[in-house]
Amino acid sequence: MAGNKRKAPDDAAEMNSRHGASTRLSQPATDKGFTAGESKPDRTGRPPSPGVSADGYFRQLYATEPDFRQLARRDPQFAAVLQDNGQLDFSDPAATMQLTKTLLHLDFGLKLDLPDDRLCPPVPNRHNYILWLKELMDSTSYEHPGRSLCGLDIGTGASCIYPLLGVAQRPWRFIATDIDAKNLSYAERNIRLNGLQDRIRLLDRKPNDPLVPLDDVGIASAVDFVMMNPPFYASEEDMLSSANKKARPPMSACSGAPVEMVCDGGEVAHVGRLLRESLILRDRIQWYTSMLGKLTSLEVLVEQLRDHAIDNYAVTEFVQGSKTRRWALGWSFGPMRPAEHVARGMKASLWKKILPPSVTAELLVLPADQSVGPITSRVQDIMGALELMSWVWEPEAAKGVGRTRENVWSRAWRRKKLREQQEGTKSKAHYDTGSESEGCRLGFEVRVVVGRSDTRVSLHWREGHDALIFESLCGFLQRKLKESVESNKDD
Ligand SMILES: C[S@@+](CC[C@H](N)C(=O)[O-])C[C@H]1O[C@@H](n2cnc3c(N)ncnc32)[C@H](O)[C@@H]1O
Repeated sequence: MAGNKRKAPDDAAEMNSRHGASTRLSQPATDKGFTAGESKPDRTGRPPSPGVSADGYFRQLYATEPDFRQLARRDPQFAAVLQDNGQLDFSDPAATMQLTKTLLHLDFGLKLDLPDDRLCPPVPNRHNYILWLKELMDSTSYEHPGRSLCGLDIGTGASCIYPLLGVAQRPWRFIATDIDAKNLSYAERNIRLNGLQDRIRLLDRKPNDPLVPLDDVGIASAVDFVMMNPPFYASEEDMLSSANKKARPPMSACSGAPVEMVCDGGEVAHVGRLLRESLILRDRIQWYTSMLGKLTSLEVLVEQLRDHAIDNYAVTEFVQGSKTRRWALGWSFGPMRPAEHVARGMKASLWKKILPPSVTAELLVLPADQSVGPITSRVQDIMGALELMSWVWEPEAAKGVGRTRENVWSRAWRRKKLREQQEGTKSKAHYDTGSESEGCRLGFEVRVVVGRSDTRVSLHWREGHDALIFESLCGFLQRKLKESVESNKDD
């Protein structure tokens, strides 16, 4: 590792280590981190243009530790702060600030200007939040990944880091707020430096204004997600003692100014405020999310979500080396459910109790030498025979997406339908497929994945709030598929 052995501040420490979350969130990629059809940096080393094809490049950025000597070769300003032994002095705010500027420039093509007395964001951690958000938003829509979205960044800071990272990767727009005049003026400068005035709108807020300014400034319903990195500490004493423990210069660019790091009640109170506002705004915004600095805060806030019967939520951890961890929490009043690795991004079984319900069930594993054709035909036959609202099979992707209003595979439903037919009444349980969007109780996806060592059939819960109907469909489809495999053996 090219980093130094000195004690680094928390945020800086992540630069001195692996960045597990960025790889944990990833889809399968090739050895170099790119999947077929994905963009790579061009010959000049410029980052690829925003869009899904650039996802592989962005996903692998901090999967391995940055090589400081190589960064120094590519950026003379970084070379000027790198020590002769190839290490960086993380206790020197000028050096950590230059690292942030260099990474933003080389990896994202972004320019940054920062004051000495405001928070200097560590790039890998902020990038991890954007990687997670991309997957959160992609997996909670039936549209192709990478749609245009508008995000609200509450407390954008002098760097305006999240909007900058977001627009560098996706066709997104942002509304960015802050309450601090100096932060706002630097954020404005950074938006201009990058020519992003038409994609990032800055809003000056007062401390007691609502955090989500939808109605105040006529944003109407154009916001798709909220993101926030709240002030962590409940008091200035907390913040100073934490800085002292980490041998960090107080009020430096590493630790941030009190207005950035302290609020009454700390992060639990700040996110609690967002939760209260979301209970009124509900699905006018699809996802409310926040980063958290303490695991205990995550536990308290998940409890609060459950108290308000919010069943659709996602938790994840951003791992920066052995010491530094951050967490993120997102919740939605809408029915679309995030993919398993996005919603349940915490590995340790100790934390199972705070995870939302699982959305993935493995139904069948077949040996690799068994032909796949019969099982995909069987999946289509079984699902096609059900009176679903819609069922669309994509042969190339070997997956099908279905939606239903009711448990149409159950005996009770079939009995009800038969009775109604015998009585000559039009079955309430008969639907025209595909035409209606209202009243879907379960949206799901069946996937057949052919691997090197086996073929797996799995069911994924995509839409709805009812875990029982998903479990019931899992049981039904698994039974049918197993019966079919058994009867093929007998033939
Ligand atoms: C921990 S800093 C995060 C800065 C930046 N987003 C980052 O991740 O580096 C918290 C930010 O929230 C801002 N802030 C505090 N209270 C706020 C409020 N009520 N509304 C909007 N911003 C607020 C602070 O001024 C500060 O810029």
